[in-house]
Amino acid sequence: MNSLLSYPDRGHWGDSKWRGNCSGYVIKDLVEHFQPKLFVDVCEGSGTSRDVCTELGIDYVGLDLHKGQDFTKDFVRGFLPRPADVCFSHPPYGAMIRYNEVGHWQDPDLQKSDLSECNSADEFLEFSQTMLLNQRLATREGGHYATLIGDMRKAGSFHSFQADYIGMMPRNELVAVAIKTQHNCVSDRRQYRGNFVPIMHEYLIIWKRSAKTMLQVSIDKAAELQTREAWTWRNLLRMALIAKGGKASLQELYGLIERMPQASTRREANNHWRAKIRQTLQKHFSRVDQGVYALAA
Ligand SMILES: C[S@@+](CC[C@H](N)C(=O)[O-])C[C@H]1O[C@@H](n2cnc3c(N)ncnc32)[C@H](O)[C@@H]1O
Repeated sequence: MNSLLSYPDRGHWGDSKWRGNCSGYVIKDLVEHFQPKLFVDVCEGSGTSRDVCTELGIDYVGLDLHKGQDFTKDFVRGFLPRPADVCFSHPPYGAMIRYNEVGHWQDPDLQKSDLSECNSADEFLEFSQTMLLNQRLATREGGHYATLIGDMRKAGSFHSFQADYIGMMPRNELVAVAIKTQHNCVSDRRQYRGNFVPIMHEYLIIWKRSAKTMLQVSIDKAAELQTREAWTWRNLLRMALIAKGGKASLQELYGLIERMPQASTRREANNHWRAKIRQTLQKHFSRVDQGVYALAA
């Protein structure tokens, strides 16, 4: 296994008619590479991983909403005889495939928990993090958890969920990101005009569970967010100073930041934005005159 995966034929595992089914070769590669004794799939779908594991003689647990297990509400570890060596997921990306529309759900409560029923990319991402944390907790320390996720283009907007997925989980647990070419998908048969770039791949993201507790994971994530917020302020000011030739007064900077379209969210999110600007200037830039700042030398 390496970081480029391409399987023109999906293999004989699972059901090729199940919308969004994946190639069994992804599972076969994961099993052959990581040699798990217990493989778990939290979105089993048609049972592709079940069939691969049965064939390879690996212990297997498959869960899915259509079998009554909901990773947004149920503790995955509770369904397992022991922690997983590899815990895999292949969620439906937002509303790319709506299982409701293909007559999947009789029970309206199950339909509500279906990730393909999310109303927005943010809602999908929030539940995706529940899924990934649930997978992580179901995996033994030193074992691997992985997800297969693609990009979504719907109603004119494009989301590359893999970037969010990587950002949601502990940085030091990420061990690989593989690109998987998509073959024989519905979009292959469409004709595209103009400068449209069709999506022809998915990502297989693999993490290795460390000893970190959930509390440590949360504290690290909160610290990363704070660091990124500080970078954003610093970079807005850096761009404003660059636009002014490297030097500007406080009043000029307030005016510029207010007019910068990309600054508006930050400004609204922080009522004390002038104080934040002064604080960032004092800490990270050079004061060259009274109320005048320059890019640090
Ligand atoms: C893309 S399919 C997986 C296909 C599978 N890899 C295969 O080859 O057949 C995604 C699956 O996630 C399931 N699913 C959606 N939301 C879920 C949830 N909250 N909990 C558990 N499974 C869910 C759907 O029922 C669907 O079967």
